[in-house]
Amino acid sequence: MTETDTDTGLVVLTNREPYVHDAPNDVTKPVGGLTAAMDDVMREIGGTWVAHGHGRADFDVTDSDGYVTVPPDDGQYSLKRLDIPDQPYEGYYYGYSNQVLWPLCHEHVDRIRASPDDWTAYTAVNEQFAGAALDALARQDDDTALLWVHDYHLALVPELVRRQTDGDVTIQHFWHIPWPPAQLFDRSPHAAALLTGLLGNDRIGFHTHGYAQEFLATVERTLPDAEVDTDALQVTHEGRTVEVYVAPVGIDTQTVDNLAESPEAERFWRDLREREGIAPDERIAVSVDRLDYTKGILQRLDAVEHLLERDDSLRGSFRLLQKGSPTREQIPEYERYQRDIFEKIRHLNDRFGTEEWQPVVYLDGRYTRAEISSLYRNADVCIVSPLADGYNLVAQEYVAANQSASGALVLSKFAGVHTLIGDDAFTINPHDTAGFAAQIEAALDAPKTERAERFQRMYEQVAASDIGAWMEHSLGQWSR
Ligand code: F6P
Repeated sequence: MTETDTDTGLVVLTNREPYVHDAPNDVTKPVGGLTAAMDDVMREIGGTWVAHGHGRADFDVTDSDGYVTVPPDDGQYSLKRLDIPDQPYEGYYYGYSNQVLWPLCHEHVDRIRASPDDWTAYTAVNEQFAGAALDALARQDDDTALLWVHDYHLALVPELVRRQTDGDVTIQHFWHIPWPPAQLFDRSPHAAALLTGLLGNDRIGFHTHGYAQEFLATVERTLPDAEVDTDALQVTHEGRTVEVYVAPVGIDTQTVDNLAESPEAERFWRDLREREGIAPDERIAVSVDRLDYTKGILQRLDAVEHLLERDDSLRGSFRLLQKGSPTREQIPEYERYQRDIFEKIRHLNDRFGTEEWQPVVYLDGRYTRAEISSLYRNADVCIVSPLADGYNLVAQEYVAANQSASGALVLSKFAGVHTLIGDDAFTINPHDTAGFAAQIEAALDAPKTERAERFQRMYEQVAASDIGAWMEHSLGQWSR
């Protein structure tokens, strides 16, 4: 696409925006899989994206309806940043979305903090998004418009929009996080309202068959008047049939590979080695996470401690580079988790570190994609150890960036992406500290040919299930 194509008929709705405008002529990209994946899609096909504006909207140069073209230096699609007042936004995002739905779907029931006000806020913000979606749809020339809603923040939107359209819009949803077991979801006092909201869609997508089946089981359990067909992956509810589909999200493998090879990446790695005093023969493990309790970072540090206790030859010759990005810091659980991680890293470094060498280096700050790719490219091992994770892009990016360097991936069996590349990764259960440590060691010690063979097979899987395949699965029928 060479010029801005904003009325392709596609309207995308997400909580987070793809570009945050912090200062005049200065936008940054947020950390997180969803926005990265969808930005690739939107650059490719154009359309309109509606999201909450996190930055300074007054720096935007918008049209008279408040739409701006992005990326800023190369406008390829249209973005509407919603101005949502702090209240209800905080109750919707920090409250209901991330202290009820997030822990519920990741099976951390003990971390759920529910307040009636947060549900009210969630409903109000979903109504605001639905109104904005209707405005954006009204700007489309196309009479085959598609509204594509994303994630758990916006579960009520599909039904709210459907009520106000006369059936000429296709509505679909992609659920980026796990769908938990039916008996768990059913505990939510709003289970029926959330499901009714989602059944306003024509199609609902999940990363894995497991999540899709749990969703169907939840509908069956919670909405007795719905008819569920688990073979055809369909629900019939209030006279309409809703299709459930499975489409794991992928990455743009070629771009990641190119970034990992770029001069920026090489420079970054050289400087990092020098700054941290990394010896040429030191073996490097890398992890890249938002500092979220679902990512299993404390379990990973326990495993590293166990490994260093057991095998003292690794002291001085192995280290973990942990890139972290603070997230959702206004939530006490996240603040505590972040503190616990830093404390644990300090403990490990005090216990095993020397003047020249520290077992764990915490990497702070905002990194470009090239810099992250350079970590992947140069690591002997990448450790991805979530306790639960919808799919996981880090594992895929590592495979794409490290292909020719023949690394090894240590991967939790609880990451959705384990269904794709689990056979060739070094699989771990993050709760099993000794087993986890043994797998890190196995990954480090595997013969070069074995590592290369495993990597080649993982690369083939990741490349075949890339962002293009996700788009085709998700948009194929509509775009044809
Ligand atoms: O996958 C769930 C998700 O909400 C994605 O939207 C995003 O990749 C990530 O978690 C980041 O979350 P947040 O937008 O809350 O920073």
